[in-house]
Amino acid sequence: TILVLDFGSQTSHLILRRLRNLGVYCEMLACTTKLKDLPFKPKGIILSGDVDPEIFNLGLPILGIWNLLGESIPPTLPVERSEYGHTELKVHNSGDSKIDRLFEGIGSEMDVYMSHFDKLKKLPTDFCIIATSANSEFAGIAHKEKPIFGVQFHPELEHTPRGSEILHNFAINICGANPAWKMENFRAKEIARIRALVGPNDQVLGGVSGGVDSSVAAAVMKEAIGDRFHAILIDNGVMRLNECEQVKETLGEHLGINLTVVDGGELFLSRLKGVTDPEKKRKIIGKTFIDLFQEEAIRIEKEAEARPDVGPVKYLLQGTVCTTPAWPGCFYADDKMIALPRCVCLIWCSLWSQANHLSSIESVSYKGPAATIKTHHNVGGLPDTLNLKLIEPLREMFKDEVRAFGRELGIHHDVLMRHPFPGPGLAIRILGEVTPERVELSRRADHIFISEIRAAGIYDDISQAYVAISQDRAVGVQGDARVYGFIAILRAVVTSDFMSATPYEFDWKLIKKISTRILNEVDGITRVTYDMTSKPPGTIEME
Ligand code: XMP
Repeated sequence: TILVLDFGSQTSHLILRRLRNLGVYCEMLACTTKLKDLPFKPKGIILSGDVDPEIFNLGLPILGIWNLLGESIPPTLPVERSEYGHTELKVHNSGDSKIDRLFEGIGSEMDVYMSHFDKLKKLPTDFCIIATSANSEFAGIAHKEKPIFGVQFHPELEHTPRGSEILHNFAINICGANPAWKMENFRAKEIARIRALVGPNDQVLGGVSGGVDSSVAAAVMKEAIGDRFHAILIDNGVMRLNECEQVKETLGEHLGINLTVVDGGELFLSRLKGVTDPEKKRKIIGKTFIDLFQEEAIRIEKEAEARPDVGPVKYLLQGTVCTTPAWPGCFYADDKMIALPRCVCLIWCSLWSQANHLSSIESVSYKGPAATIKTHHNVGGLPDTLNLKLIEPLREMFKDEVRAFGRELGIHHDVLMRHPFPGPGLAIRILGEVTPERVELSRRADHIFISEIRAAGIYDDISQAYVAISQDRAVGVQGDARVYGFIAILRAVVTSDFMSATPYEFDWKLIKKISTRILNEVDGITRVTYDMTSKPPGTIEME
């Protein structure tokens, strides 16, 4: 095992991911972890931030990333000193293989991604320079005797194309880690971890949506504690055609999860009546979701109290996954970018990662900055009053890893590869007022669009596709009659990070076929248009 000590760097989780890609098992612990309390003996340590010098006396190989190994200039934001983006790194060959082995096989130059506000002022005693960049004299340093290395670029980022080789050199060659880790090992480990945390009686509650993350989180929970996990699906009346039934089938029937479906359709639609402002719509949906979730949670808690064979409901499952920092100071939370000043971002980061770890290791209640950021984008946050402790089995996984894990757990390909669907559902795709009539139009048109995309074999090439229904109407002819109907707006985008996106380039014949089918089969739609807007300036959703 390689231990990654997290000091609040935005990219700590990416280090884990890269190591896992190399087949190296690793664990991340908060920087507050006492060395004497380490639950395992690591083969080496990666530090993602400044560090307590005590760690250098452990005798283990160490790789420090970012600001490290000595006195650094205080972060007063000296712009001319900070270095961002791609830089050419000059690798120094000392002739001593022990010192040169971090960059073994790289050659004399390397394209790296730098992002630092402050830099090393002087070379620490007993260290030598192994790499430099135009702005950084000490872009890579190595201890002359011990296997201690420091780099001021980010080998864990994709922007450093050969970064994995550096991590490979460190973890496998220098630390001697065995690259035998596989996703199936994670399954057993995570199940054991959940069982140890939850104990033999306590119960867990969790909302599911049919999306990838909540489905995978629910599946692992079911495997770990069986029926002591209660999944709740809230039908908000703005889900897609047959979506509730599909969730019941995949999670309830196929995976045997203890699932309750709460029919909130009427309540949601009644509260949305007459509301046209997008933000108000989102807030109403968020609040209604919480009201119903809370009601259901209380019901399940009461039932649990009455049963002598099970303990109380103590935990709340969240399918939180790791997301990629776009650039320093900016984060995605559920694909959203939140720009924060650096000081806030560092505090947020370290609290976030600590909260995440504690949530699985010691279990803390659902508080802290991650929660706040999530609410922004989720359906309004989760009920504080329930006083449940948070449990997040996917917290260290990236989306593609969550999918691989889902495959391990037997979840169907179509569920795992599903396009994202927003919490507020079709309501933010029905421009203006959400009426039952327009929900129906949106469902039926969307179903045709997605079915045709699937049939054409291009579903996985498109990142997200849906049909929006305009507020405006246009005249058309259906049968022999003049119809004053709504306009269906097809949207299909391609993106790798959901931060920016471009419209998918459809085959003309296919898009014409889709248009004809919608016009023929969905009464009340008289026009079909294709949204050609990129993001930015547009967003993926309409509202
Ligand atoms: P935008 O519209 O901001 O969307 O370009 C980016 C991604 O986020 C999804 N999205 C949401 N997901 N709750 C969610 O769970 C929301 O309120 C929400 N709003 C947007 C959107 O579908 C896209 O994948």
